[in-house]
Amino acid sequence: MIIAIDGPAGSGKSTIARLIAKDKGLIYLDTGAMYRLVTLKALNKGILGNNDLNYLEEIKKLLDNLNIDIKKNGFYLDNVDVSEEIRKPIVSENVSDVAAIREVREKMVDLQRKFSESKNVILDGRDIGTVVFPNADLKIFLIADAKERAKRRYKELVEKGENVEIEEIYENILKRDKIDSTRKESPLKKAEDAIEVDTTSKNIEEVKNEILRMINENI
Ligand code: CDP
Ligand code: CDP
Repeated sequence: MIIAIDGPAGSGKSTIARLIAKDKGLIYLDTGAMYRLVTLKALNKGILGNNDLNYLEEIKKLLDNLNIDIKKNGFYLDNVDVSEEIRKPIVSENVSDVAAIREVREKMVDLQRKFSESKNVILDGRDIGTVVFPNADLKIFLIADAKERAKRRYKELVEKGENVEIEEIYENILKRDKIDSTRKESPLKKAEDAIEVDTTSKNIEEVKNEILRMINENI
């Protein structure tokens, strides 16, 4: 069984996917975290923002030697648990540029399909229902007002002790929405056969129950 959950940042994808996975005994794959791992590696290597380097060539080299691992307890880069680090604002600021590169997407999609082989999975991202698994058993497209999404992400980061401004988060969300939905390679968009759920004024429990109902009715 494959369930695809797509939508913009802060719409509730990972929270809901994790809960549904638990309820239905599915394996959850956070594909956004994979793009964040590549971005963190590029930042650590000083590739991003360095005008002296041939950016694309360096990213391709990095992909050839990429050592990422998705384990139950966290996301690993070169055998180090970087689950916290990949959520930092510096990664959020750069991830959409990295995710727009064709070679990066090809590699990630390949890994996502391999990961899901012979498993019952729920994946969340931007292109799961359109590109990674166009034949998924159920496709959900979560949306929410951008101000509400920024508020949610702000609260989360403040609780983690990050020193952030809500305006910066809001700007980052708008910027990523734009890059993600206008890029040439697998842009963020609702698959024709996806069911759209607006979570702006719904709490987590309500969204979870709505999606569980859809699973029970459709699969
Ligand atoms: O958690 P949040 O919604 O902030 O973002 P994420 O799901 O961690 O994804 C980070 C970024 O990775 C997105 O803004 C996209 O640029 C990219 N991404 C993508 O291009 N395709 C996916 N399937 C998942 C994420
Ligand atoms: O994965 P995505 O970026 O789409 O969103 P998320 O990380 O699941 O959710 C972002 C934040 O919004 C989390 O702190 C959730 O607890 C919260 N949230 C919420 O308040 N109400 C919802 N209906 C969904 C998520």
